[in-house]
Amino acid sequence: MHTIPDPILRSSRLKLRRLCPLDYAPLYALANDTAVTQYLHEGAPPSLDDVQGRVARAAAQWEHRGYGMMAVEDDSGFVGRMGIFHPAGTPEPLLVYALCQSAWGKGYATEALPLILEWMHAAHGIEQLSGHIDPRNTASARIALKLGATRQGTVERAGAMLDLWLFRPTVQPFL
Ligand SMILES: CC(C)(COP(=O)(O)OP(=O)(O)OC[C@H]1O[C@@H](n2cnc3c(N)ncnc32)[C@H](O)[C@@H]1OP(=O)(O)O)[C@@H](O)C(=O)NCCC(=O)NCCS
Repeated sequence: MHTIPDPILRSSRLKLRRLCPLDYAPLYALANDTAVTQYLHEGAPPSLDDVQGRVARAAAQWEHRGYGMMAVEDDSGFVGRMGIFHPAGTPEPLLVYALCQSAWGKGYATEALPLILEWMHAAHGIEQLSGHIDPRNTASARIALKLGATRQGTVERAGAMLDLWLFRPTVQPFL
């Protein structure tokens, strides 16, 4: 168990906070948008019950680890989820992110992900986070490059070969 308080992370346009039951409906919509999920390898589209189960498991991870999945909000409210996937029994924390289509192309991912990397370093001493990116996902690979992440090979996930990227908080972004 940890003693670190839940963070609220802010940039000029965005706020990141721990996922909560208020997020069920937008998370359900996000997880059922095939344009969003096409490279995520998360299995069949979830039901609302499935989404509630995911949020409950994310809450359990927060209690266990002191970090986890966050909602991303702009002036209009929920625009996506980002954070750390690291359930009990799994070997390493993974950086994961997905935004609603309406929020794509505004630089939000590039703006928000460093907040998580910096907070994980400052609060938890974690200097490096892995990300698994489908090689067809040019948007995600571009973000990784812009944040100074490095590609370190491949990993198998749900029957797909994904690129393994390492993200660090201290590397100067490549713009
Ligand atoms: C990947 C994702 C998070 C990108 O978010 P975003 O906020 O739109 O990204 P940004 O606006 O910060 O853009 C970052 C860079 O990627 C580029 N980019 C964005 N979408 C792109 C696309 N479809 N194809 C190619 N490049 C793209 C941007 O042009 C920008 O690069 P630039 O500054 O050199 O122009 C968003 O598209 C998404 O949620 N996709 C679905 C879920 C997903 O694939 N998550 C990642 C799993 S590994």
